Amino acid sequence: MSSISFDRAVDYYDATRGYPPGVAEQVADAIVAAAGATPESRFLELGIGTGRIAFPLIARGYDYSGIDLSEPMMAQLRAKVVDYAKAHPQASLRLDLRQGDSTRLPYADNSFDVVLTVHVLHLIPNWQQAIQEAVRVLKPGGIYLNGADDAMQTGGHYTVQKMWFAIIQRLGYDTGQMGMGGFATGDAIFHFLQERGLRPELLRTVIWQISETPRQAVEYIAKRLWSRTWVVPDEIFAESVTLLRAEAVERFGDAFDTPEQRTMQFVLQRAVKGT
Ligand SMILES: C[S@@+](CC[C@H](N)C(=O)[O-])C[C@H]1O[C@@H](n2cnc3c(N)ncnc32)[C@H](O)[C@@H]1O
Repeated sequence: MSSISFDRAVDYYDATRGYPPGVAEQVADAIVAAAGATPESRFLELGIGTGRIAFPLIARGYDYSGIDLSEPMMAQLRAKVVDYAKAHPQASLRLDLRQGDSTRLPYADNSFDVVLTVHVLHLIPNWQQAIQEAVRVLKPGGIYLNGADDAMQTGGHYTVQKMWFAIIQRLGYDTGQMGMGGFATGDAIFHFLQERGLRPELLRTVIWQISETPRQAVEYIAKRLWSRTWVVPDEIFAESVTLLRAEAVERFGDAFDTPEQRTMQFVLQRAVKGT
């Protein structure tokens, strides 16, 4: 079973996963604080993508390396950095991008002060190996950070997701085959780090609001914007969407087009490599 590359998401990733104005900068502040970063700190991000997390840190001048399976995702980041450099000719930007797999990192042992993963471990069947690689390339005393945008309450979005999973199962598709080797939940990662003596702690950082109607949650699935939908065979997927639309209209009734506020939080698992 292989990891899930985001080549197909390049054209819509930033539009559908981007933060509201100002939040990316606050997330960068939270990362810098959690890492205890200094201007000399060397960062590495596994699954760097389009630089949603990385870009504000690169713009602040940190020495930043990134690896991703998807060259097209990283091309978007390169373009942003080129534009930023043109607009800020005095800025000293340090970015090294490599195409590759986080379970086999092309970096020497003890090279980085901070290694970051954000919304990537659930796409890597052998996520434990990716963490082991992260720890290998960290300097002694270096910081490993695993971040996620976490909804602070359940609501229509999750109801719609659960409805779709149930439909897919009814149609005979085993969600255990979804190419991810099981969702690497926060708890699993926390325990993995704990067992290795990395002293993990959970930091709840930036809070922001988003608004979405149940119809938008259904269309997010229908348009296959969500990576969980990518591995479902086309015919089963098409049928699942027809059923989901019908069931959602019935379930939400008048509220189908009513925006629902959702509170989101950037959560960081922080671990320290022994000295
Ligand atoms: C959901 S995106 C997250 C990108 C970025 N960290 C963010 O938060 O916006 C996941 C990224 O991880 C990449 N990816 C998935 N499996 C990978 C692996 N084994 N090694 C490196 N990159 C991987 C995908 O291609 C994609 O660009």
